[in-house]
Amino acid sequence: MKNINSKYACLRVTFTKSLNKLQLDYLDLYLIHQPFGDYYGAWRAMEELYHEGKIKAIGVSNFLPDRLMDLIVHNEIVPAVNQIETHPFYHQTESATFMKEQGVQHQSWAPFAEGLNNMFGNEVLISIAAKHRKSVAQVVLCWLVQRGIVVIPKSVKKERIVENFNIFDFELSTEDIEQITALDTRKSLFLSYHDPEVAKMMGNWKIDL
Ligand SMILES: NC(=O)c1ccc[n+]([C@@H]2O[C@H](COP(=O)([O-])OP(=O)(O)OC[C@H]3O[C@@H](n4cnc5c(N)ncnc54)[C@H](OP(=O)(O)O)[C@@H]3O)[C@@H](O)[C@H]2O)c1
Repeated sequence: MKNINSKYACLRVTFTKSLNKLQLDYLDLYLIHQPFGDYYGAWRAMEELYHEGKIKAIGVSNFLPDRLMDLIVHNEIVPAVNQIETHPFYHQTESATFMKEQGVQHQSWAPFAEGLNNMFGNEVLISIAAKHRKSVAQVVLCWLVQRGIVVIPKSVKKERIVENFNIFDFELSTEDIEQITALDTRKSLFLSYHDPEVAKMMGNWKIDL
């Protein structure tokens, strides 16, 4: 069955549900998860909520430059943030440059590549970490922050959450950065946003915006 739901109508309902669950009067930031389906309808509803003061900033996720430009030119508000897969094996250099030009804040999801590709066992990252007496996780977060990228590492362990905050007392050198630059595969570890099968799969997600 085709998913032809209007996101304009359902966004307010899901937004109000989230606000109630969080027991808040407004949200600081609200994102569209994927550039599929009626995201224009969702964006227009989000613009209204922004004007009503119910959301302080609105943004998107997984929008590559072509989709992001399309959204920007056809709407009033430029997304404050675009959250995209960004880690040592996928640097998103072109997206980063484009977002800077457009005034959209780059935010990284999967900063540790969710542990894929043996990221925590990578020899280059281990040697840089040893030099700075830091962990691989801290080197990766420091590298992202030095690039001006907002980062949202996920951990369920208290000691790792503390470790992941403790990155503001060292800096990576040009040589460190060059070594990390060489790790870029220029490809997603998860999915391609240019693949029609991905668009089809996302079309079957019923609850996503
Ligand atoms: N917008 C999107 O489409 C999208 C897609 C995916 C994810 N996200 C978001 O991105 C954020 C990042 O989460 P993520 O799960 O994707 O990936 P991630 O942060 O790259 O990786 C999380 C993994 O790293 C481990 N980890 C965390 N800190 C560590 C440390 N200091 N040392 C060793 N291992 C460590 C975690 O294990 P423990 O938990 O056991 O510590 C977990 O297995 C989340 O908020 C998620 O919701 C967004």
